[in-house]
Amino acid sequence: MRSDEPLGREPRFLDCPYSRTICVYGPIHDAAHLLTQAEVATLQRALPKRKNEYSTGRWLAHRALKELQRPTTNLLSGQHREPLWPQGTIGSIAHSERHAVVLVSSNPQLAGLGVDLELMGRLDEGLVGSILTERERLRRRNIDPTLIFSAKEAVYKLLFPILREYVDFHDVELLIDPEKHTFTVRYVGNSSACRCIEAAVGSYREIDGHWLTQVGLAKTGTSGDARSVQRSGAQIGVNEERRRQRDTYASQRSRRE
Ligand SMILES: CC(C)(COP(=O)(O)OP(=O)(O)OC[C@H]1O[C@@H](n2cnc3c(N)ncnc32)[C@H](O)[C@@H]1OP(=O)(O)O)[C@@H](O)C(=O)NCCC(=O)NCCS
Repeated sequence: MRSDEPLGREPRFLDCPYSRTICVYGPIHDAAHLLTQAEVATLQRALPKRKNEYSTGRWLAHRALKELQRPTTNLLSGQHREPLWPQGTIGSIAHSERHAVVLVSSNPQLAGLGVDLELMGRLDEGLVGSILTERERLRRRNIDPTLIFSAKEAVYKLLFPILREYVDFHDVELLIDPEKHTFTVRYVGNSSACRCIEAAVGSYREIDGHWLTQVGLAKTGTSGDARSVQRSGAQIGVNEERRRQRDTYASQRSRRE
């Protein structure tokens, strides 16, 4: 693995609301030469677009781990595509067509992190009903629904590694505060374990015409929090109905792209 970065492609370290946490952002490019052998091996059959987004995400993740003074290790993915962070760290990855962003923390008080990046205004009006709940649609005013979509994806990336449950877009209701650039999360689905997400703190910013959303969940040590509900995938598995919902969403999404 080499550590050199071409001029103009240096990563940008962004403000982050959590301590011992790094948020790093950079342009999508082919960064495969900066990855470990095992990471490169996962790209053998990848198309160029996937190779670029994956390698940029991994490159940024390695930079963030280095900043946290963590040794560089393989950053592979789990069965449900969740990144497998080195012990003592948690994090999240997102890419758009042009940029990637990574949020990584070694803060032992944090139970989970989620990040997402979406081109502003990207969400087709025809899809608003399947992403926003009725209440979100009613109080939407001039909020770009893509912002809500992005924040929900960040919430999903936070929750999945902890609970290994699929969360539908209508299971979560967000309240955006456009003054403070923050959002709070309400869980309105049927899984009691998922209610831990209501303690999460979300924030967002605009960057290069994108919404960058971040969400973090602290460990509280009380029953019902993320730490006490954390269970292994083998114990829970992913509920079949939820897997079906996810597949439907994925096919809608690939038709859109
Ligand atoms: C998983 C999902 C959120 C990824 O979003 P995306 O827009 O396709 O792609 P992004 O670039 O934003 O994010 C991709 C990264 O998310 C991460 N990711 C993917 N699946 C994940 C999971 N199950 N858990 C945590 N992180 C995951 C990966 O790091 C991935 O990048 P990588 O494969 O290069 O490592 C999306 O495909 C999805 O399935 N959404 C439906 C569920 C949902 O969002 N519900 C909202 C409920 S509130």
